[in-house]
Amino acid sequence: MNVGIIGAGRIGTALARLLTRAGHQVKVAGSRGPEKLAALVGELGPNASAGTSQEAADFGDVVVLAVQWDQAKNAVASVSSWRGRTVLVPVNPLRETATGLEIADTGGRPPTEVIASLVPGALVVKGFNTYLAQVLAEDPAVNGGRRIVLLAGDNADAKRKVADLADSAGFQAVDTGSLAEGGPLFDSGGPLNGLGRDLLAL
Ligand SMILES: NC(=O)c1ccc[n+]([C@@H]2O[C@H](COP(=O)([O-])OP(=O)(O)OC[C@H]3O[C@@H](n4cnc5c(N)ncnc54)[C@H](OP(=O)(O)O)[C@@H]3O)[C@@H](O)[C@H]2O)c1
Repeated sequence: MNVGIIGAGRIGTALARLLTRAGHQVKVAGSRGPEKLAALVGELGPNASAGTSQEAADFGDVVVLAVQWDQAKNAVASVSSWRGRTVLVPVNPLRETATGLEIADTGGRPPTEVIASLVPGALVVKGFNTYLAQVLAEDPAVNGGRRIVLLAGDNADAKRKVADLADSAGFQAVDTGSLAEGGPLFDSGGPLNGLGRDLLAL
């Protein structure tokens, strides 16, 4: 599959590493232009390339929005239209401060609903948000089982594409339902969010 990754920080890089290793093609984009990502692309090998955010979005059967909560609005503005695109959102409603992480104010709305409102017409799938980046990059086969990737989304085809990506990278995708039902289960503060590396399919 072709995957566009907007945001080549910790999670974007971990996903790029996982997916290129699984044989997928990725195009990564950052806020400072494709040339700044040359070293990363070189390290990832022939399945990786860099582009603008628009190029990454156009490239991807799935587009990953791998930016921080406060960066999402700016990042999505670089793409002319989101209509019909399958968008994987690992974004948690967190803000990094000098003293640590704090929960962002979502105005009482489910966080993924806020992100979905920034990408009108997109087929949004929440997922890959429950593991620290360094855990995500590890081999997901552990203790005789496979790490689980929880997914939520309103479009079955979009969710299937993301589930196929997760499965091909060695995870077990688990569908928790719609964005409204499943999202809050594993978003920051949700009952399944903290289970991180221990949630296995045996
Ligand atoms: N880190 C984790 O362990 C972890 C775990 C689970 C979920 N998450 C979630 O994953 C998301 C990303 O987190 P992260 O830790 O990967 O953050 P990060 O390391 O700070 O990476 C964010 C990346 O987004 C890029 N970016 C910022 N504005 C952009 C724009 N306008 N256009 C394109 N790219 C832009 C930045 O690129 P430049 O450097 O070029 O500005 C940066 O590399 C967050 O929402 C977080 O809640 C993170």
